[in-house]
Amino acid sequence: MFTAISDPQTQPIDPGDQAYWSQVRSQFMLEPGHAYLNNAALGMPPKPVRDAVAAGFRLMSENPSKAKRDFHDYIESELRPAMAAFLGAETGEIALARNATEGLYHIVNGLDLAPGDGVLMTTQEHPSAVRPWKVRAERYGIEVREVHIPSPLVGADDILERIAKAIDGRTKVLFFCHVTRGGYLYPVKRLCALARENGLISAVDGAQAVGMLDVDLAEVGSDLYTNSLHKWFLGPAGTGFLHVSRAMQPSFSSLYTSAADSVGDALRYEIQGTYDLPVRAALGTALDFLNRIGIGNIERRLRMLSDYLRKALLEVPGLRLLTSLSHDISSPGSTIFEFEGIDAARWRGPMEEEAKLHVDDHDRDGHRGLRVSTHYYNTTDEIDRCVDKLKELARREGR
Ligand SMILES: Cc1ncc(COP(=O)(O)O)c(C=O)c1O
Repeated sequence: MFTAISDPQTQPIDPGDQAYWSQVRSQFMLEPGHAYLNNAALGMPPKPVRDAVAAGFRLMSENPSKAKRDFHDYIESELRPAMAAFLGAETGEIALARNATEGLYHIVNGLDLAPGDGVLMTTQEHPSAVRPWKVRAERYGIEVREVHIPSPLVGADDILERIAKAIDGRTKVLFFCHVTRGGYLYPVKRLCALARENGLISAVDGAQAVGMLDVDLAEVGSDLYTNSLHKWFLGPAGTGFLHVSRAMQPSFSSLYTSAADSVGDALRYEIQGTYDLPVRAALGTALDFLNRIGIGNIERRLRMLSDYLRKALLEVPGLRLLTSLSHDISSPGSTIFEFEGIDAARWRGPMEEEAKLHVDDHDRDGHRGLRVSTHYYNTTDEIDRCVDKLKELARREGR
């Protein structure tokens, strides 16, 4: 019943190998005729993950006490170590969570900050991070400042310089996305190094990064890193993790368990009590599915599809691509754009209702555009359909 997690595939697979990727695609169950180009909002788990969740709940009904024991054993002996290995972390540094938002609330409230201490974040953070920082600032008098990062991005150096310039004597924490909601890629390693050089804590929102990029947390060098595994990792909805580096653990409080308690390592940062065991255990199936393809192959396939999409978008009259063509500052999966003089964010509805194309609006940083997020299961045909529909909508508005 419990999925044995395969070792990661390291042999390169051609990102354009139709036969291989169609066979992968056959493992997804999207309604016929629909093209799902909204993975950044919520991933589409493959069949084995859906089956693992369903089988898990069946076990819970048939023999709850045995199922509970077996799930715990699997999660602790197989899943947590395999997740840690996948992330380049130690097993004792990974707390499993429901989503990145849970990890973000933990980051904000677990840090030892006094009134007047400063936190720097950027203007492109997600509301799931902005909200708890605002609450902590209002209630406990810390100073949270946003560093303006222009959209479109200027470059990695520009991001680094802006944040470096904003550091002052009160700053204790640098907080930033690895990949923003719109798919902008921040220079995460350099930002963590900047934090270290200045004696600051680095805390990273990785909700849009894990599962699309090869994320090795030891290399990233962050003190705290959180992610939602139901996005690019294609785990079941309601899964994520918080990474608390070994060095950080003595000074990072758990909201749930005293440091003196017997719950050790990063486990003490998990909400205690009974949780949806079949959902969490199905992460093992999702990791196995991912490992069989290999994260390097996934990243290359995503790059190939996004490059194809971005080039095609440049041909759409009136369209302004916000995502850079440079891989240095763009993520492999998400692409955002707008139309001069048109509120294109309202096209999300017609794209879905008229053409079964699932995309998201992009309503931030002064833009009213769209986000198209492609995963490895997408095809160039689906991208062509999307671009054709955009051309048609643009024509309707006189372009
Ligand atoms: C950058 C970023 N952070 C955090 C979140 C919140 O993720 P979740 O709703 O899975 O907690 C999202 C969701 O889209 C996101 O894009």
